[in-house]
Amino acid sequence: MKKFFPLYCLLFFTFFINAQTLKSPDDNLDLNFSIDENGRAIYSLNFHDKAVISNSGLGFVLKDNVEWMKVDTLDMINDFNVVNISFDSKDEIWNPVWGEESKIRNNYNEMFVELEQQNSQRKVNIRFRLFDDALGFRYEFPLQENLGSFIIIDEKTEFAMTDDHTAIWIPGDYDTQEYNYTTSRLSEIKQKSIEFREENVSMYRFSDWGVQTSLMMRSDNGLYINIHEAALIEYSAMHLEYNPINMTFESHLTPDSYGNMAYMNAPHNTPWRTVIVSDDARDILASRITYNLNEPSKIEDTSWIKPTKYMGVWWEMITGQSTWWYTNDLSSVRINETDYDELEPNDSHAANNKKVMRYIDFASKHGFDALLVEGWNIGWEDWFDKKKDYVFDFLTPYPDFDIEKLNNYAREKGISLMMHHETSGAIRNYERHMDEAYTLMNKYGYKSVKSGYVGRIIPAGERHYGQYMVDHYIYAIDKAADYKIMVNAHEAVRPTGVGRTYPNHIGNESARGAEFRGSKLNHTTILPFTRLIGGPMDYTPGIFEMDPRKNRPDFTPNLNETLAPGSVTTTLANQLGLYVVMYSPLQMAADLPKNYMRFPDAFQFIKDVALDWDKSVYLEAEPGEYVTIARKEKGTDNWFVGNSNGYDIREALVDFKFLDKNRKYTATIYRDSKDADYAKNPQSYKIENITVTSKSKIKISTAAAGGFAISIFPN
Ligand code: NOJ
Ligand code: CA
Repeated sequence: MKKFFPLYCLLFFTFFINAQTLKSPDDNLDLNFSIDENGRAIYSLNFHDKAVISNSGLGFVLKDNVEWMKVDTLDMINDFNVVNISFDSKDEIWNPVWGEESKIRNNYNEMFVELEQQNSQRKVNIRFRLFDDALGFRYEFPLQENLGSFIIIDEKTEFAMTDDHTAIWIPGDYDTQEYNYTTSRLSEIKQKSIEFREENVSMYRFSDWGVQTSLMMRSDNGLYINIHEAALIEYSAMHLEYNPINMTFESHLTPDSYGNMAYMNAPHNTPWRTVIVSDDARDILASRITYNLNEPSKIEDTSWIKPTKYMGVWWEMITGQSTWWYTNDLSSVRINETDYDELEPNDSHAANNKKVMRYIDFASKHGFDALLVEGWNIGWEDWFDKKKDYVFDFLTPYPDFDIEKLNNYAREKGISLMMHHETSGAIRNYERHMDEAYTLMNKYGYKSVKSGYVGRIIPAGERHYGQYMVDHYIYAIDKAADYKIMVNAHEAVRPTGVGRTYPNHIGNESARGAEFRGSKLNHTTILPFTRLIGGPMDYTPGIFEMDPRKNRPDFTPNLNETLAPGSVTTTLANQLGLYVVMYSPLQMAADLPKNYMRFPDAFQFIKDVALDWDKSVYLEAEPGEYVTIARKEKGTDNWFVGNSNGYDIREALVDFKFLDKNRKYTATIYRDSKDADYAKNPQSYKIENITVTSKSKIKISTAAAGGFAISIFPN
């Protein structure tokens, strides 16, 4: 149904507006929009009879770009009139290239509010979309006489909370998301933030009341509320700043070195601000609104975009047993000048022909699609946080890495090598080499690249989550598509559903992954509710040897030490569960081949598990406590179930009613043994085979930081 309110209704309308309501298609949610006595645009959101967001203001502080050297700012906060309101709705099904399900329903009611500031006569429109499980809204600046090219110096979007909710958050930061999560009351954010200190090579914490999105909350009256954004394009990433006095979050955008938040050229839209809400935590995981609020694929022929299971010449560098760099002779190198052939190789450079071939053999034997090789290219000797512009050329292999021979060998073995582009944050340098680097990949048959943005950004003053870098990430993905290359970016801004528009963007890190080790026990029961709301994560699960020191041949145990520093803090069964819990079309088996050889029966699950799905069923979920998900492999009748458990030992219930009623299946359960313990006995697991039907229900006990995985094949 389409309603249109013409201009001549304006007078009558100003009153009417104060009570303007939009309902979600199923009436679960209602959104109220009004203009208050100061002319400020206000919205609120209810879930049935419960308030989710109470009256919250909308608006901006701007500077005119033409005269931006002037200090005058323009408030676009008060003094608004409604010029027009129109309504629309949509109910469609679309098919993602990859995803948690093969059909996604996009069903919403829309209200489009056109506003004009009376004195300045500047216009801004707000588009609200109300889904059954969420609200999305964005600002749209139409091209107009008084507003062409301008600067946002502050976005004043409020999210007023109704109570002192429990929140699961990471500190507001312009440069990193690689944090452990804190669970606290909203009123405790500042104190906990001061107590909480974690270091990273690039970090900028802007305030003790600041938190990042996606932010997950639980109210005492039983609501789960998630605030994030969708379609972050040509804008800077939004954080939230909490004000405990009025219990209100305000948007806090990532500024550049001038303090400017976003550069706008009308017509220009902001990203969508999203609030997902339900009284059942599982609905937060099942919500597809972040993708629905993004544009359809820009790539027409997507046949080359393939879910990828990979291994890597990698974990041994992460755990300090070998190096990315080729020589220890020099502490500084110059690309195109340093003659590596003249230098003494160290014994620890991992990306050498012999070792890479061994890894290729293993990955190919066990059915993987690709092998990541890091440290293949010159420049690693001084790669780290040196603010060095020409840090890599992304083209020249080290003398012991024969790029042609290794790619041919991989191809003969039925796999491909995965490219690695560490940029060290030197973006200008990366963009300068990008065409040649992608051309090189095409020449040798690389299908995907893992890129990375470690350290502070060059040009200085730019931030990982500012508009300049947001533009860069999109540029890199868009250009990669021209070369039919899939991209997995580490340290980039967290995703906001843009993988719908650019489906070659198959992975992102942008959170604390397995490589950090020492994560809180409930870390992966939180990530699906936070980081994964915007898209898949290259979490790199599958660590079977939790204590990396044990990988060293010279290891001698220290019997007094139950958990060595640098250990992965989960059980082995939990690591298997992550392949289902942490949805991604790109999944790594991150550990060393020799550790998989020690536990071949558990490794079988990693080999079997699918990467792309027809359907996902969220069986049990409580953020920070446990998550159990069942997924049906795309195009087959195979199902896989995964569980990750938090701090408390728990019994999970798996109800197999998702299975086809007319079939019997063999389920292989990989679970924690009774004595499994993430610190003392993480490798204690049990494997059971049982027959199941849609009537089966089983209980599975899980250790702290434990979990389970189940593969289910029809008989
Ligand atoms: C950080 C990435 O997250 C990690 O996976 C990678 O190995 C290093 N950077 C080196 O690029
Ligand atoms: Ca990282």
